[in-house]
Amino acid sequence: MGKPSEKIIAELKKLRAEINRHNRLYYVEDSPAVSDADYDALFDRLLEIEKQFPGLVTPDSPSRRVGFAPAKRFEPLAHRLPMLSLQKVTTVEEFTEFDRRVHDGLETEDEIQYITEPKLDGLAVELVYEDGLFVRGSTRGDGTTGENITPNLKTIRNIPLRLSDDAARRYPLLEVRGEVIMRRSAFERLNRRLEAADQSPLANPRNGAAGSLRQLDPSVTASRPLIFYAYGISATDLSELDSQSKTTEFLRGEHFLISELIKSARGTTGVQKIFEQLQQQRADLDYEIDGMVVKVDSFVHQQLLGQISRAPRWAVAWKFAAEQAQTVVEDILFSVGRTGAITPVAKLKPVGVSGVTVSNASLHNEDELRELGLRIGDTVIVQRAGDVIPEVVEVLLEHRPKNAREVSFPDTCPSCGGRIVRPEGEAAYRCLNSACPAQLEGRLFHFASKGGFDIVGLGDKLARQLISEGLVKDPSDLFYLTIEQLHPLDLMAEKKAANLLAEIKRSRATELPKIIYALGIIGVGEAAARLLAEHFGSFEAMIAADREVLEQIDGIGPVIAADICDFFENEGNRQMVGKLRRGGVLFPAFERAATAESLSGKTFVITGTLSKPRNHFRNLIEQNGGKVSGSVSSRTDYILAGAEAGSKLDKAIKLGVTAVNEDEFLRLLE
Ligand code: IVH
Repeated sequence: MGKPSEKIIAELKKLRAEINRHNRLYYVEDSPAVSDADYDALFDRLLEIEKQFPGLVTPDSPSRRVGFAPAKRFEPLAHRLPMLSLQKVTTVEEFTEFDRRVHDGLETEDEIQYITEPKLDGLAVELVYEDGLFVRGSTRGDGTTGENITPNLKTIRNIPLRLSDDAARRYPLLEVRGEVIMRRSAFERLNRRLEAADQSPLANPRNGAAGSLRQLDPSVTASRPLIFYAYGISATDLSELDSQSKTTEFLRGEHFLISELIKSARGTTGVQKIFEQLQQQRADLDYEIDGMVVKVDSFVHQQLLGQISRAPRWAVAWKFAAEQAQTVVEDILFSVGRTGAITPVAKLKPVGVSGVTVSNASLHNEDELRELGLRIGDTVIVQRAGDVIPEVVEVLLEHRPKNAREVSFPDTCPSCGGRIVRPEGEAAYRCLNSACPAQLEGRLFHFASKGGFDIVGLGDKLARQLISEGLVKDPSDLFYLTIEQLHPLDLMAEKKAANLLAEIKRSRATELPKIIYALGIIGVGEAAARLLAEHFGSFEAMIAADREVLEQIDGIGPVIAADICDFFENEGNRQMVGKLRRGGVLFPAFERAATAESLSGKTFVITGTLSKPRNHFRNLIEQNGGKVSGSVSSRTDYILAGAEAGSKLDKAIKLGVTAVNEDEFLRLLE
């Protein structure tokens, strides 16, 4: 074995620092700087050295995140200070009452300074750092005692194993609290992986997080895509940390992941505005939240307010309204999607569900329709799940009218009248006619969507018209449209037609992942398209790959690999690709580094008075890959708002656009 040389010790130190930096870039900042293969090489080298010189293994080495022996069961671990629960409110009135109690408790009429945080829907945990080292961690349990899940927590790569020297000195004991969650995208990828391996999929991201974290074998946890969001510390008596806002800043500085949706607000109106905004943003987030936590910012005030039974008087969970509602099914239609899949859809008497009016609900497929036993005229419970598409979850038979009508599944395509089949092992019937107008419409709409060629102005109505007029037979025809063809369409004023053509022209230069996504290959969503672009670097390399090569890509798997091959084996699809090229689509090469641009693809609106001229900010945005637009729309990603921002900001908030001030904006650039 021998004694390690100075050189080895130096290499080890450098390796650990490098790996920690890449973990941070990947898990906290979401901007990986090296390929997975390069990362693995660094990690393998670390393991090799540590195996050769076990004396050099330290408890905070990144290698200690995996490879612990399985425990038989979890040991109980008491929290030094209890992990409290939260009082709940669901309406403005109830929140106003909470605010009144805070005023009374603090004996003040001044508006209260609050911090609002998304209420993350995962599993609450506590991490204990002694002299800067992560020594143990536990679940919340009953609030007093949880389960010791230290080895599992160590496998979560965005949990810092060591704090900065400065923090270690100042806080020899620090208990960090937060939520372990699974992102939706990671959850979906994991389920695809589990299904491909013939294992049962997980029900939802919350169960995914809880189940993965409470595995007896930490190597299973290590294979699961978990992340930790910190939202606080156990004690409020740590000298410099005298508020919730300073605490989150401190934790951010120690490389804990902090939600980007945390805001500060004054008084009830400020809080209410943010709540409404969060509700709008909810469906677009990559993680599930079930409300907003509102905390009094000042720790002095928190201590003054104290707690009642198990919940603090200084915080409240403002939960989103119930996601279910009762309504009547007026009709059952069958819609044909872009892949030809035929989905029964319930036309509902419009009803509000968590702030959105719902008039359609998916019934998924024939089997589900049968199982529900749904008839036209039935009263049903509809639900908006994490996803935006609402569904019918229950038929209230006691309300069934005498004349309720049964529907039978069609035996031909409701759009083109063509033959439909139910492929072996699939739940859906499919229309086999690839020229079917409904399919084409779906494909065209998908092609032009934000994740694809991002052609502003091409909505579903126009897509339908272009097809019915015979101007577009496949999406590549868009690149051959002329103003003379567009102008006569009744939806098209001349100016609008010119704008649309300009948009189409601009979109020819779009980047590779968007092109791949736009093609509409079954199973290839935005994440998979990006993986493919990153892996192959060029369109040519991707289509040249055979099934075996595609299957090997992490996150693709055999099912999608087969779909990709099928797609490019189809003569019509190959012709479409040729037509895209001749129509001027550039098919640029794709380099990972290009995505390091922090604002890539994001659209900003700038408003209000800022510390520097607007052009300064415009340049910064464009240099970092973003775009600046003059007006707010649902396509705006961020509004940069300075002092006295007016109607644009109001509109942005209504639309659920994320508003940032100068400081937050600069942080986005990092
Ligand atoms: S603060 C006394 N902040 O909500 C403070 N909790 O009922 C209590 N939760 O299971 C916790 N997001 O895990 C806090 N930003 C957030 C939170 C949050 C989710 C969960 C927490 C616990 C429950 C509290």
